[in-house]
Amino acid sequence: MNFPPEGPGSPGLNVQSVPKVTVPDLRSVRGSGRKIVMLTAYDYPTARILDTAGVDVLLVGDSLGNNVLGYESTLPVTMEEMLHHTRAVARAARRALVVGDMPYMSFQTGRRDAIRNAGRFLKEGGAAAVKIEGGRKRAALVRALLDAEIPVMGHIGLTPQSVHLMGGYRVQGKKTEQARALVDDAVALEEAGAFALVLEGVPETVGRAVTGAVGIPTIGIGAGRFCDGQVLVFHDLVGLGEGAPPRFVRRYAAVGEVIAAAARRFIGDVRDGTFPSDSESYSAPAAVESRKTGGS
Ligand code: KIV
Repeated sequence: MNFPPEGPGSPGLNVQSVPKVTVPDLRSVRGSGRKIVMLTAYDYPTARILDTAGVDVLLVGDSLGNNVLGYESTLPVTMEEMLHHTRAVARAARRALVVGDMPYMSFQTGRRDAIRNAGRFLKEGGAAAVKIEGGRKRAALVRALLDAEIPVMGHIGLTPQSVHLMGGYRVQGKKTEQARALVDDAVALEEAGAFALVLEGVPETVGRAVTGAVGIPTIGIGAGRFCDGQVLVFHDLVGLGEGAPPRFVRRYAAVGEVIAAAARRFIGDVRDGTFPSDSESYSAPAAVESRKTGGS
């Protein structure tokens, strides 16, 4: 395994000197026992913090739609919105690999569109790879993207862009036939050249079977313990999401509550006149002060 040292946040490591995580690095973790850590990121300050903390992969997910832009689903997210946020994340990422998520209708409309849009993630967005939802039916596209020098991360299982076909956000692969189909999807994507696979919303047994069937790393989200890595949506991780999080989320902080408490204190301080204080206000030289107040 050839993997860059743990993040710039590690004591004693000079941020500038930390090598970037690359696509071959990620492929090489297979069998090494080292787990890949991926989080979504959508903006510069968050990406900077996550990168410094040592996250391996920053995924600019199309979950941007639900988490940042206030859409009901990922379907309305556009290429322009994705590129805008990918650029911000790429500016912040010193070590982490940045992956741009191909939004709905950026690749389903044909190979030419898909290559052009995927290329924009690398050329304009600063990403190193793209992620595409779908199994076997995307294999030819994965090959075409590789021909255009674009590394591809696959995404199978619960694929949110298929929400209407699935009839909701439901765990996939519960029936034997479906589980077998997911294994076939994973193998087809690997054979087509995908360098890693996101496995979302499947029973742990399916996560294990898929991981055992392929030689590329699997990165699970709601896929159990046997994947080669794990990904969570940043807003779920820190408690910034709306409503109750899904079962597979472990919430590590309550940032939404911290922000609400800070805002409430600010409101109180402004209303009762204790903000700003003397030390939070600028002063002018004494002569100007006295002229202003009519002194001699
Ligand atoms: O858009 C996203 O956040 C994703 C993750 C759930 C993997 O695709």
